[in-house]
Amino acid sequence: MCGIAGVVALGNISEKLVSSIRSLEYRGYDSCGIAVINGSGKPSVRKNIGSVEEVSEKENFLDLHGNVGIAHTRWATHGGVTKLNSHPHSSCDGLFTVVHNGIISNYISLREKLEKKGHVFVSATDTESIAHLIEENYSKLKSVEKAFTATLKALDGTYAVALLTAHEPDRIYCARKESPLILGLGVEENYIGSDFNAFIENTKSAVILDDNEYAIVTHDGYVVKRISSGEMVVKQVLEIMWDSEMAQKGGFPHYMLKEIHEQPQVVRTAMNIEEDRLMKFAEAIADKPRLYLTGVGTTFYVAQFAQYYFSAYAGVTASLASSDEFKFMANVDDDVFVLAASQSGETYDTLSALRHAKAGGAVTGAIVNVMGSSMARTVDHLILQGSGPEICVISTKAALSQMVIMARLALRLGLLNGKLTAKDVKAREKELDAVPKGIEKILNEKSGFIHTIAKEQSHIPHWLYLGRGRYYPIARESALKMKEVAYVHAEGMPSGFLKHGTIALIDDNLNCVVFMPPEEDAELYKLTLSSAEEIRARNGYVLGVMSESKSPSKHLPFSETIILPKAPPFTAPFFEMVAAQLFSYFTATTLKRNVDRPRSLAKSVTVA
Ligand code: F6R
Repeated sequence: MCGIAGVVALGNISEKLVSSIRSLEYRGYDSCGIAVINGSGKPSVRKNIGSVEEVSEKENFLDLHGNVGIAHTRWATHGGVTKLNSHPHSSCDGLFTVVHNGIISNYISLREKLEKKGHVFVSATDTESIAHLIEENYSKLKSVEKAFTATLKALDGTYAVALLTAHEPDRIYCARKESPLILGLGVEENYIGSDFNAFIENTKSAVILDDNEYAIVTHDGYVVKRISSGEMVVKQVLEIMWDSEMAQKGGFPHYMLKEIHEQPQVVRTAMNIEEDRLMKFAEAIADKPRLYLTGVGTTFYVAQFAQYYFSAYAGVTASLASSDEFKFMANVDDDVFVLAASQSGETYDTLSALRHAKAGGAVTGAIVNVMGSSMARTVDHLILQGSGPEICVISTKAALSQMVIMARLALRLGLLNGKLTAKDVKAREKELDAVPKGIEKILNEKSGFIHTIAKEQSHIPHWLYLGRGRYYPIARESALKMKEVAYVHAEGMPSGFLKHGTIALIDDNLNCVVFMPPEEDAELYKLTLSSAEEIRARNGYVLGVMSESKSPSKHLPFSETIILPKAPPFTAPFFEMVAAQLFSYFTATTLKRNVDRPRSLAKSVTVA
């Protein structure tokens, strides 16, 4: 969702401010803007539609000089993508300027009341009401702090908000309710940001605001207080483990490709999660008679993948719920464990599902990539996956790491249930240890071939991704990759389901990808193969994805085959997913898509 940044320093901050929102651009990129104050006078505001690069040049951001500033990169929710709807937004007198991430649900009634009092609105956003309301409250209360907190108390919905005001030009006021906001602590210089990337180039010391807290940030300090009472809160200072280099492209043309290539390392990190932590997590799951797995988008498919592994290796039956539907279908009570996966740890739907579960008495757990994120601080049991920053809007390495961790949890659950012996667990872990090398082999030896097929087939408007058993979630996740990065219509489906209707679609405009299990997974292999045969019998195109075989059949029903390193049933799905990520990536580059910033998307979806 939108990205917020702010800098308070002694010298000119424009360059740092622009660099901050550039680093946050993956949170939203339809428009952007900055506001700065130079010692006194009204905040100077510049904004427009387009990327940070384009707008910064068009609006000469760097010509603005000031020592305090706020900035925003937008993913539109209320009001179209226009210059007027871009942030920052100002009060009528121009003395108060705000940026905001979230949704103010009572903005229409606030706007009507303020308009009756003579305030003139220029945008269609919910955010503009905040600036006018602060102005209105200031006229009565004559204190910025009081006007700010009175305004926050009047807002329904969610926000991370930052305020710059001519009345106190040496500071930023900011606050948080259900949208992330973090302070960065530098030397004679402090920062605010929607996430660490806003200021990681300058400092690794951070303070995370909790819901219903506000902060006043100056160049030499900060205070955090509760919105409800004004009471001061003592905050813990966190040292961020990521560094700024991890968030660079490192020679790759896109973050997506870089992150796909980071997967061997990411799997190694997942394999290094301590035994004790995994076991305690598994014990907490096993302690409850019922289990829900949840996530949304890619992490829903991670949850579904876990459902198959928990069942196969631990005999654990888990209910699966997309986080956005969770509260409408899940029955939670103190007999339930709810396990979520989330890269950002901020996704509104997943966070709401976890909060709903907690309120109902359930015990919660999550696999999360971002330390200090809302989810990391909400759940009772946490596994930090340590995959490093995922900058591309499309999730690749984080999802693969979560699947590996889920597979490792399945083994511990199997051990606790007596379904597996310690020897079994050791054997499967050894297979997982071989995954990084196998992925390296795919990246080094198969990328060229996958690129060629992607180029040849990039004109095809519809794709069906088919997989059975544990390959079904892989098929769905791979179809999602194709849709979101290449804008090509793709659906993931169980291959056995095809003959029950969808097979009617097979024609020259629709291609299929079939994820084959290794031959030793005999029943699954046979069944998946027969689905491929059914498509070929109707002259459909089938791209087979399968592991190397000792005696490959000459009569496989595939139009093209991507042959991957030999892998046992436990780990083969990981390799097939990597091949499909590359296929989506190369289709997207062939079609000249904006790979790292696909249209209409944003990383970290923090709104309902
Ligand atoms: C797809 C994608 C999204 C996210 C989903 C959950 O590539 O990135 O579907 O997986 O929005 O996000 P997190 O993992 O941050 O909770």
